[in-house]
Formats: sequence, C-alpha cells, structure tokens
Amino acid sequence: SEVEQTPASPVVVEFDNGIAFVTLNRPEKRNAMNPALNIRMMEVLDELEADDRCGVLVLRGAGQSWSAGMDLKEYFRENDGKGRAAVLKSRRQSGGWWNRLMYFEKPTIAMVNGWCFGGAFTPLVACDLAIAADEATFGLSEINWGILPGGNVTRAVAEVMNHRDSLYYIMTGENFGGQKARDMGLVNESVPLADLETRVRAICASLLEKNPVVLKAAKDTFKRVRNMPWEQADDYIYAKLEQMLFLDKSNGRAEGLKQFLDDKTYRPGLGAYKR
Ligand code: ACO
Repeated sequence: SEVEQTPASPVVVEFDNGIAFVTLNRPEKRNAMNPALNIRMMEVLDELEADDRCGVLVLRGAGQSWSAGMDLKEYFRENDGKGRAAVLKSRRQSGGWWNRLMYFEKPTIAMVNGWCFGGAFTPLVACDLAIAADEATFGLSEINWGILPGGNVTRAVAEVMNHRDSLYYIMTGENFGGQKARDMGLVNESVPLADLETRVRAICASLLEKNPVVLKAAKDTFKRVRNMPWEQADDYIYAKLEQMLFLDKSNGRAEGLKQFLDDKTYRPGLGAYKR
C-alpha cells in the first residue's frame, strides 16, 4: 500500500487493491474535526473521485478513536471569537465534505474503530455502509456540554434510528457500544475490533466485483427516492436507470444478460457477472 500524505497531515490516504483507506489523523485529539481536517477532507474527496486506485472509500480513525466529533476548541470556541462570518464559513467546511460524502462517486464504508461522538454521526450516516467494532463507544454528547445536535446530526440520526431511540440518546447523551448501534440500525454490523478490518475488506471485495456505474446510480437512487412520493420515485428511478445505460460505457447490462442467457457462465441470483 502507498501512503500519500505525511503522518502529520490531519487526513491520511492509503491505497490497497482498489480500497482507499482514508484515516482521520489527529489521534492526540481523538480525531476531533477541526477546520484544517475539514478543509483537507474536502480536497481528499475531490482527489479520490478522479483516482482509479479508489474503487471503495473506507473512512477510519487513527488510534483508539473514529472521531470525537467537532473540535470544541478550534471549531467552536475559537470561531465564536471571530464573528458570524467565521462561524458560517467553518460550518460550510464541515457540512461541505459531509454532503459530498453522502453522494460520493464511489461506495463508502465507515469503519468505526473507537470513539464516535456528536458531529461524527453526520459523516457516519453519510457513508453508504457502516461497520463498527463491538468495543467502539458512541454518544450524542451535545446535551452533555449544553447544545443540541447541530451540523445535521439530528437529521442524520432520524434517517437511520427510530423515534424513541433517537430521542433517548439525544436527550440523555448516554454512551452505547457497537452491538447496540447495530441493534438500532445506526451501523450495519458490529464485530470484535480484532476482526473489524478483515470484515470491511471482505465487503470491499464484494463491492469491487460490481459495476461501479451501477453502484453509484443504485446508492444515490435509494438515498433520494425514500423521501419522494411514489409517482416521482418511479419516474426518478427510471430516469436513473436510463442515465446509467448512457454512462456505462462497458454495457454491463447487455453483458450480464449475455453471460447468463447465452454463455451460461453465472447465475445472477447467486453472484455477479464477470466484468
Ligand atoms: N474537541 C477538542 N478537543 C478534544 C475533543 C474534542 N471533541 N475530544 C478530545 N479532545 C482533546 C482533549 O481536549 C485532550 O487534549 P489535550 O491533550 O490537549 O488536553 C485530548 O484530546 C485527549 O482527550 P482526553 O479527554 O484526555 O482523552 P480520553 O481518551 O481520556 O477521552 C473522549 C476520550 C471520551 C473522546 C474525551 O476526549 C471526550 O469526551 N471528548 C469530547 C467528545 C465530545 O463530546 N465531542 C463533541 C460532540 S458534540 C459535537 O460534535 C458538535
């Protein structure tokens, strides 16, 4: 694997067989998101969109943390002193890369290896999939220091967790582990920390077999149609399907049909066609 940034960078990118491991890299500050990290993350997403070495993006944290949320010193207190425009700019920097992540060109997996607090829930939910370590600790800790979950954390929680669980954790700020996060639908799975990377790599291998144009269309379609009325959804889905046929220069659909119906080399019910 190749390391692209120096270890001092707030974000480190490493490539390994189609996977881009993106590591939030402020372990001494528990990977809290400060403006420098937020600015760098937006650049990293722009770079990876155009980089063929990235077939799947895995977002992880250095050390014992995934991310301890927003940097309370650099993001909140220091910006407060600079006035409204500075606060708004800083919000755009974090919100910008989270929105970008939500509809990223490649599949994304949050690999939650440790602490995950507050603001970290938005990029967590923005990732297509999330796999946690049983040992990870989650918390909507905003209430503990006197704010409500901003930065669209409240909306992100509502997207994946139910009404009762959401309010319980928003209002109590209580911690929970990976298994509980799985039970509530905040993550797909929780596995022992020792198995976390192996499990994530296995999911990446499955995704890397698939047609990337279709993956992008499929995930965007799901994320968008769930908030649409049925008639609009139906139309949007067909528009996406047909757009995909135009964008997919490999003609995957025709190839998939041929390998099943003519060549009889695979069964779509049991696995993907050979790209
Ligand atoms: N913002 C700024 N600095 C932070 C943050 C943060 N979110 N989290 C940790 N740090 C810093 C600490 O200030 C400390 O800095 P120092 O070494 O200069 O004193 C260093 O990281 C290590 O932190 P400790 O608290 O000593 O680490 P520990 O392993 O004992 O605890 C824990 C880790 C539980 C994550 C703790 O640091 C913590 O509670 N952090 C805040 C979590 C939080 O509530 N985040 C905000 C959510 S709300 C929002 O994001 C909008």
